Amino acid sequence: MPDKKESEYVAPRDARGRKAVIDVRDLTKIYKMEQIEVPALRGITLQVYEGEFVSIMGPSGSGKSTMLQILGALDQPTSGEYYLDGVDVAKLKDAQLATIRNKKIGFVFQNFNLLARTSALRQVELPLLYAGAHDRAARARAALQIVGLGDRIRHHPNELSGGQQQRVAIARAIVNNPTIVLADEPTGNLDSHSGIEILKVFQSMNRERGITTIFVTHDTFVARHTDRIIMLSDGLIVADHPVAHPFEAGAVDRPSEGGELESIFKETYQSNGARAALH
Ligand SMILES: Nc1ncnc2c1ncn2[C@@H]1O[C@H](COP(=O)(O)OP(=O)(O)OP(=O)(O)O)[C@@H](O)[C@H]1O
Ligand SMILES: [Mg+2]
Repeated sequence: MPDKKESEYVAPRDARGRKAVIDVRDLTKIYKMEQIEVPALRGITLQVYEGEFVSIMGPSGSGKSTMLQILGALDQPTSGEYYLDGVDVAKLKDAQLATIRNKKIGFVFQNFNLLARTSALRQVELPLLYAGAHDRAARARAALQIVGLGDRIRHHPNELSGGQQQRVAIARAIVNNPTIVLADEPTGNLDSHSGIEILKVFQSMNRERGITTIFVTHDTFVARHTDRIIMLSDGLIVADHPVAHPFEAGAVDRPSEGGELESIFKETYQSNGARAALH
């Protein structure tokens, strides 16, 4: 029987009429470790609407991964409400959580999390196997084509570059047509060229297929390719802004470190010079 409250639940909509697929209210997470309690999330209220492309930033330990794990139904909050595509997740038991996860969430990890001795095609088929789907090979092949790996389906992870391995992981995340794709630092282990390739995949999946995407990154340049940036600090949202002109992946060069240093030094020398001139 559907929960009374759940049947009454109506997802909020944004100004453009898009439905909230993630609706979190006053969410907390306290890790209990023997005698001490670690408050990782201290009251998060957040809506993410269908078709949004969001990045989460914030210092190490601010609660980004904790939040993503709860949004991804990999973990339960200590208190608060969480509706995922209309389902009251905070009330679910472990087995129901696993079902929701498989049906509605695609997860991408920093270290790819691929099986070593398994072909790309087989990796991407796995979620379909758990879901008991039939046309597994065809659907897995289609997902690999979307991420640009149609010609690598027989390759094993050690026969693929880092960027290609991450694309296999993305294909695996989208093969079930999830409501939302969550990624924890998906470009964190990649060189900047492969990182851009991954950003292109996320951007085109979002724009062409409307896949709602949230990812965590430490990299401001990466975040500027998304449409909205949420900043966490010490378990709280401290900023949440749209990106005025998101970068097109591959079209904008990362400002070079050398160039940035040069301008910093120039300013320093100029102000030193200016100061020296005063004496
Ligand atoms: N399983 C756990 N048990 C106890 N404390 C934890 C656990 N996981 C995380 N924490 C603590 O919760 C806080 C938030 O951790 P979290 O991993 O969410 O941070 P983060 O923002 O993802 O950091 P990073 O950028 O380093 O990945 C930290 O203080 C961390 O030490
Ligand atoms: Mg983390």
